[in-house]
Amino acid sequence: MNGIKIRGTGRGVPSKVVTNADMAKIVETSDEWITTRTGISHRHHLAEGETITDMTVLAARRALENAGVTPDQIGACVVATLTADTQVPSAACRVQRELGLPHDTVCFDLNAACTGFLYALHTMECLLGASERKFGLVIGAENLSRITNWADRGTCILFGDGAGAVVVECSPAYESIHAFLGCHGTDEMLRVPGVEKGVPSLVYMEGTKVFKFAVEAVPYCIDQVLARTGKTVDDVDFFVFHQANARIIDLAVRKYRIPQEKYYKNINEYGNTSAASIPLVISELHEQGKVGPGSRVLVVGFGGGLTWGGALVEFA
Ligand code: COA
Repeated sequence: MNGIKIRGTGRGVPSKVVTNADMAKIVETSDEWITTRTGISHRHHLAEGETITDMTVLAARRALENAGVTPDQIGACVVATLTADTQVPSAACRVQRELGLPHDTVCFDLNAACTGFLYALHTMECLLGASERKFGLVIGAENLSRITNWADRGTCILFGDGAGAVVVECSPAYESIHAFLGCHGTDEMLRVPGVEKGVPSLVYMEGTKVFKFAVEAVPYCIDQVLARTGKTVDDVDFFVFHQANARIIDLAVRKYRIPQEKYYKNINEYGNTSAASIPLVISELHEQGKVGPGSRVLVVGFGGGLTWGGALVEFA
């Protein structure tokens, strides 16, 4: 089986910065509560005139430049999102047009909530194995401020907007990313209605229940990926976690005794950006030189659906 490796990364970050003090003008909350309970100090929201398509295309363009890959080399483009500007055309079709990807590029969006980027990476590995062109664009992009319930202080302080992208290369010489993905279909504790008549399409979340799910899902995914790859924690160069709450990451780090130089948190800067969260981390790590050619990165995600996943991803 062919495997994939990351060749380039990029991100598109909205210009409007919303601080915790700004949130305290909307709901009864405080910087102290938000920082200690979540690790978030601010988040980015789309400014007037900006669209999530702009951010998605920007992230993709930067990832291509960073990889030294041209649009005509791309065989597939998958965007993980639940908040594309339009349902049709998909975000991926908009990227095709803006970047001039070849007309026979496979382009579609995929929704696995906050685990979407991992679902998209796995999908890309399968797609490129059957493609004549060996490069693919995997993007996570969200405009969560559009579906935020601004009357609910338990959720509105959490979410941010943004987009992150990677260019992957497929080769029979590469190991599979050994993606481990799962789902337990329930809308009890986390949902965005959308299709239910008369119900506003806003995020509903019972935070404490989701927190409990997350702290079990993260080690489960780590264990599964290590078992499938025959690796140990020491074999992993870097751990990338979905940024939903700094405390969830801290618990995992403590459990596996992961040294500080091997994991990263940027939730203070972005909040929870759902499918964009993991590629935003990967793009910053890559830019800072913390990961690069040869790095072996264990990526873990979890979220609505409920969904969860992990993979061991290398840089080319
Ligand atoms: N500011 C101040 N107080 C707040 C608040 C806010 N923004 N939001 C909630 N509170 C209050 C609650 O009303 C509650 O008050 P009460 O005890 O008087 O009823 C108290 O703080 C505790 O609320 P609770 O919801 O139990 O807090 P928590 O410690 O569970 O933290 C989250 C809430 C949302 C930060 C946390 O549950 C979380 O991060 N969950 C996981 C979210 C997640 O991973 N989601 C994404 C999946 S992708």
